[in-house]
Amino acid sequence: MKNDNREIVIFKDIEDISDFAVKKWKDICDNALKKKNCFEVALSGGKTPIALYKRLAELQETLPWNKTRIFFVDERFVPFEHSESNYRMMNHILFNNIDIPRENIHSISTKEDNPRVSARKYEEDLISSFKLAQGQFPQFDLIVLGMGEDGHTASLFPGTPSLKETKHLSVAVSPSDLLLRERISLTLPVINNAENIIFMIAGGNKAQVVKDILEDGTHELPAAMVKPERGKLLFLIDERAASLISIIKNN
Ligand code: 6PG
Repeated sequence: MKNDNREIVIFKDIEDISDFAVKKWKDICDNALKKKNCFEVALSGGKTPIALYKRLAELQETLPWNKTRIFFVDERFVPFEHSESNYRMMNHILFNNIDIPRENIHSISTKEDNPRVSARKYEEDLISSFKLAQGQFPQFDLIVLGMGEDGHTASLFPGTPSLKETKHLSVAVSPSDLLLRERISLTLPVINNAENIIFMIAGGNKAQVVKDILEDGTHELPAAMVKPERGKLLFLIDERAASLISIIKNN
């Protein structure tokens, strides 16, 4: 199903989604290398992209990791060894298994006094890595996103001030659910400046929010605010998460 620069493709399960996402990764990477000899990608945490990261690790020798720069979409404000750390997950599944120069991995430091300092440091890293002038936003070749049952994406949660951010590249976020960790996240202007955004969404618990966002046109949820200015927006959804959408195109 295609709508301007938005495309929705439905798959049987997360394995099929991940196979497709790998093909997209390769195409986008090839194009970026042709254009600027470097591929810049921002990756999300959560469970859904794990199968993709495993496949990328298996392909380790065929992908140009020395020309790939990996940034983080978001991070929980916990030490890297913590079970909830996105760095820990990606390090274990991907970084440890590929031949990527460590300086190509741009993690979000959580050693600072508080998440606001972490967010500022990450912003400084983005500004210097992308050589940005004041007021400019980085343009990622690809941003991989997931979505929560409440419609959050990255660490941008419904009703938080982070959604109104227009200047900063990275912000600290305190989810309204007190059980959740404080986090650091890329902001909407950065996400919406990407060349390609791929949402990976799986599981029946997300069916209602998928319908709200893709069919009912709900605007206020963070995932619905992801609308790239010029780039492509691709939703890869499994059958269970897509079960309440009426217009379905099978892959
Ligand atoms: C994170 C993510 C977050 C995630 C959603 C979906 O670090 O957790 O960036 O936005 O993508 O919460 O999580 P699941 O993939 O685990 O369902």
